[in-house]
Amino acid sequence: MLDTARLTNLLPPKMRSQVDSYFEALSVFAEIRDPKVLAALGPSGVRGLLLHRGKQSAPTKIPAHHDAYFDWTYPADHPEMAELYRRAKQGQWDADSLPWHIDVDPLDPEVPLLPSWFIDADTLAAQIGTKFSPREQQEFRYSVCSWMLSQFLHGEQGALFAAAQVTEAVQFFDGKLYGATQVMDEGRHIEAFHRYLDQKLGRLYQVNDNLFVIIDSLMSDGRWDMKFLGMQIMVEGLALGAFSVLYRVTREPLLRKLLQMVIQDEARHVHYGVLALREHINRELSERERQEREDWAFEVALLMRNRFMAYEVYEEWFEGLISREQWRKFITEARGMQLFRQVMFERLVPNLREIGLLTARIRPHYEKVGLMQFYDGASADQLTAEQMLRDLDAPLGV
Ligand SMILES: [Fe+2]
Ligand SMILES: [Fe+2]
Repeated sequence: MLDTARLTNLLPPKMRSQVDSYFEALSVFAEIRDPKVLAALGPSGVRGLLLHRGKQSAPTKIPAHHDAYFDWTYPADHPEMAELYRRAKQGQWDADSLPWHIDVDPLDPEVPLLPSWFIDADTLAAQIGTKFSPREQQEFRYSVCSWMLSQFLHGEQGALFAAAQVTEAVQFFDGKLYGATQVMDEGRHIEAFHRYLDQKLGRLYQVNDNLFVIIDSLMSDGRWDMKFLGMQIMVEGLALGAFSVLYRVTREPLLRKLLQMVIQDEARHVHYGVLALREHINRELSERERQEREDWAFEVALLMRNRFMAYEVYEEWFEGLISREQWRKFITEARGMQLFRQVMFERLVPNLREIGLLTARIRPHYEKVGLMQFYDGASADQLTAEQMLRDLDAPLGV
């Protein structure tokens, strides 16, 4: 991390926050150890973190460079993917059938979107010498929840386009048929999350810069397996963890139902990613290519762990009042955010193991950042839908 405090302290608060955000972006690049990973993530980093391409209030165009893979013999080439396809067809549902008649009052203390222990703004208020009323605390949690759901929605847009790309690019014909169901699933998820944000919460936050970097990177990478790794394993794996935490903590019944339905689809998506990559990484890639993916996955895991700091909420509530450094500390230590990180990596790490990207070579790095504790968990192909649903209703260890 660059030492920026001495320089930025001389500036007025608003400018200090801006300069701090640039230094933070630079530190993302400085922390990437592997030059190949830097080359792969660098251009997306510039577009996302420095140019804020996702925040220009205009449509973003990201060039895609992959080959569409046609096969005119229509082989039945992957029985497990064929089985997923069958299950996906049977699992289709209509977002219109969610209980949209439920009135959602985001500030109703009886039906909280997030519990008060999840993120407690009192500690921050105390730092700036003020105190939040119970109403202000609810408003703050309403912002945080709307921010999270907005990022879910933006991630779903990435998932829709990535699913369309990998359906073209993947070489398994059974995978292409399965992929068609995922494209439909992601479209439905956009419909449901957007409708909830628009009609029930009346809020939409801009895309987080770090999420934009990851989406930009995998959309523009021509290698189909990098798209799979980025979207099906990393983004979807983490989203699955995040959805399940929100499902377990929110008391709002429409949101719970929506998340429950989406989670069942997402579990198939991650399962598909594990099936496609396990074979490809272990049989078709050279050791050098495998290592490159191993390093990339580690860097992206760190990016996701350390960088989702909800700055969009900071800018709305606290910019100019506290430093970004103070905000980072607050977000890092908030109980709900800690829970997010734990559940997300509980899901992700076993999947990386299963596809062959957690070999003895990289394990010390995961160990160093405390992620090896999840190594022995069940991967997506080992978890049944019944287990997943049972886990969702288990009490939280908080
Ligand atoms: Fe989705
Ligand atoms: Fe998905």
